Amino acid sequence: MPDEPLVLGIETSCDETGVGIVRGHTLLADALASSVEQHARFGGVVPEVASRAHLEAIVPTMQRALDDAGVTLADIDAIAVTAGPGLAGALLVGVAAAKGYALAAEKPIYGVNHLAAHVAVDTLEHGPLPEPAVAMLVSGGHSSLLLVDDLTAGVTPLGATIDDAAGEAFDKVARLLGMGFPGGPVIDRTARDGDPRAIAFPRGLTAPKDLAAHRFDFSFSGLKTAVARWVEARERSGEPVPVADVAASFQDAVCDVLTAKALDACREHGVETLIIGGGVAANSRLRLLAEERAAKVGVRVRVPRPQLCTDNGAMVAALGSHLVAAGVAPSPLDLPADSAMSLTSIRVAG
Ligand code: KG4
Ligand code: ZN
Repeated sequence: MPDEPLVLGIETSCDETGVGIVRGHTLLADALASSVEQHARFGGVVPEVASRAHLEAIVPTMQRALDDAGVTLADIDAIAVTAGPGLAGALLVGVAAAKGYALAAEKPIYGVNHLAAHVAVDTLEHGPLPEPAVAMLVSGGHSSLLLVDDLTAGVTPLGATIDDAAGEAFDKVARLLGMGFPGGPVIDRTARDGDPRAIAFPRGLTAPKDLAAHRFDFSFSGLKTAVARWVEARERSGEPVPVADVAASFQDAVCDVLTAKALDACREHGVETLIIGGGVAANSRLRLLAEERAAKVGVRVRVPRPQLCTDNGAMVAALGSHLVAAGVAPSPLDLPADSAMSLTSIRVAG
């Protein structure tokens, strides 16, 4: 296998059908088809609708990625696919497609972990991962802090949300402010015109008694309820809701807790690199606050560009390429899709 393997990655764990192609750490193609608009009127991703959309999009997206990269399936060294965690039906479409292509073209297949792929994608922008690193993954489905000693071997979970994911909180708050789905980008934009100190919303799991048991865990459900109560009280009193101030204050509460806990994890483990990934990593306030606070304690922050932060095929290809280059054995061709795939497993082993 070459040092700079040509790897194709397929992602279908949620509402994005992604096919990416990388050579080593170089991104050659990142084709994406999203079903996000089909979910908008429901205010969240509907699994059956997502699966159907993947089925329709997978073959054209695959073709587009190969065309964009200027390669054929025969040129590819290995195929990587998200095996989990994610929506079972959605994962199945990607895994079945990857198996079909692997079988037809006689290529090795790697069933990989979606969360580890969110970490690996940063190599496409910033080069090899400095290890150890702390990774903070914040999206619609997950909010985790991980210690990354060796991405080929597994990662150590340090903490996670005990209720809503960070992106889910953005989506729910946007819904109660009547802003549509997905909520993150619109709250981010609206918050630019607001005052982040206008309303003192709660910072979940940061009180001393909570820190004892949940130092690196998150909770956003109380925050979401606090925003709902605050808005209701305003509406009852007949006063207009200052939407930009609510958005800015809510966003600040989320970003304050995320950055404080991530940097605490870096300090605790003597780590100098913080990688942030997942859809919420696209948030402008989170990026700024992380940079500011990290600079003060000598930690370097690595955040991929927004298109690579949200779900895509390139991240899967990046992790596949990392595994191939490290000489890790492929997965068996009968690998299962595992909606609850554990973080300690980077790929499905034989
Ligand atoms: O990683 P991702 O594309 O899919 C999941 O695996 O969930 O993340 C989507 C989530 C959504 O909840 C969306 O509202 C949030 O990421 N998001 C943002 C921003 N852009 C996307 N949240 C805050 N600020 C943003 N700019
Ligand atoms: Zn994701």
